[in-house]
Amino acid sequence: MSSIKNFKLYINGEWVESASGETFPSDNPAKPKQILGFFQKGNKEDINKAVDAAEKAFQQWSQTPAPKRGSILLIAAQLLRENKETLAREMTMEMGKVLAESKGDVQEAIDITEYMAGEGRRLSGNTTPSELRKKFAMTIRMPIGICGLITPWNFPMAIPAWKIMSALICGNAVIFKPSSDTPFCATRLVKTLERAGLPRGVLNMVTGPGDTAGMTLVRHRKIRAISFTGHKDTGAYILKEAGLKRVGLEMGGKNGIIIMDDANLDLALDGVIWGGYGTTGQRCTAASRVIVHEKIKQKFETMLVNRVRRLKLGDGLKPDTDVGPLINKTAQEKSARYAQLGKDEGARLLIGGKKPKMDGFFFEPTLFTDCAVDMRIAQEEIFGPIVSIIPVKNFNEAIETINSIEYGLSSAIYTNDVSKAFEAITRIEAGLTYINSSTIGSEVHLPFGGIKNTGIGAREGGIEGINEFSEIKTVYIDYSGKLQRAQIDLD
Ligand code: UN1
Repeated sequence: MSSIKNFKLYINGEWVESASGETFPSDNPAKPKQILGFFQKGNKEDINKAVDAAEKAFQQWSQTPAPKRGSILLIAAQLLRENKETLAREMTMEMGKVLAESKGDVQEAIDITEYMAGEGRRLSGNTTPSELRKKFAMTIRMPIGICGLITPWNFPMAIPAWKIMSALICGNAVIFKPSSDTPFCATRLVKTLERAGLPRGVLNMVTGPGDTAGMTLVRHRKIRAISFTGHKDTGAYILKEAGLKRVGLEMGGKNGIIIMDDANLDLALDGVIWGGYGTTGQRCTAASRVIVHEKIKQKFETMLVNRVRRLKLGDGLKPDTDVGPLINKTAQEKSARYAQLGKDEGARLLIGGKKPKMDGFFFEPTLFTDCAVDMRIAQEEIFGPIVSIIPVKNFNEAIETINSIEYGLSSAIYTNDVSKAFEAITRIEAGLTYINSSTIGSEVHLPFGGIKNTGIGAREGGIEGINEFSEIKTVYIDYSGKLQRAQIDLD
């Protein structure tokens, strides 16, 4: 075991040990005895050093022409593409999702990097006529300053890349605090940007616990913006502690798929399997509630049970694996607790519900039916392979049911009735609605984010991602050569 590597923090363009000198391991959730490396327990002192480095680097980086910033991102995208296979394999070893999904995760990181590289040649403001003669009016984009980015483990490359690339192209300096479950993938991403030629101090990475490294970042008065994806309790705490910074939060969901009686059931079946059990249910956008019209309930349940029964649990590197492990023991126990809770609440277990006899943090793909809308398994985010079927009598009840949750991230409806589809688009309370497609799989050039307790307004990706990481400055240029008083000199 002596060959296990110690990884470092990345501060001011150098790989350094943490002030504490302490480390923590990152393991393989399919084979918990396999340690991928030891990572630094960064603390307040390390964050302070990173802030000093970022503050200096910001002076240069914010003045670097945005297209030039974009060229560095483009090189990074190319390096990610060249190493996609290796990065994906490492990702599966660190967080367990099946290899095809890890490749998708790396691809999403490539996509956002390319997209944001292109934004370097736009970063558009507006020009608009002035009220006055010989006066020009426009808006331009300015960076915010130093941004603290706190990311989850379930998309260990894609989500950090959404935040980092958007922040960088706008000219911000970044301090990146990745999840302690996936510091290996985070290190790979940072190394890629280093190799692409990002100047020192522009991007700094501090691994370590949320309550020390993370909270120092959130409270630091020199940090102007925080972007966080993760649990809603942490998000609410961040909002409270961040003071007058700009805060972007993405805090999960309890996403529903409505299946109407006229739906193509084979299509809906694929959507429920993919949305409910893909990434072992560990997506903010996972479909954990299936709202089924009572006329087709029986038939659809049977179809679903037959498919769930065939899902093969295992190591995500094996080609025949459909569902990988959960991220860690705590997550596995959480799924077990919710499976028990579902039974106690009176939901009917159709299949699954147990930890299988396997090493690793596995949990059986689990399906409950006859759930009432207010049961805890149908209300709370489980982040595991547990799906609840809620029967409904009609379209109105389906819409009320899908909206009867505190979250508002993703949603879907399967129907061939175009009027119902459009009505669903306008009535479902969520940041994303899919028609005849599952709740997952957003694309990087469109905004991503949610309403209600999922978020407080920010969106990631696309032009909205630029909005999250830039300030708008309004500029007036008066070339009349005389004092023109707005609202007074109306001539
Ligand atoms: C998340 O689970 O936090 O739409 C993000 C999707 C992915 C992103 C999910 N592209 O499922």
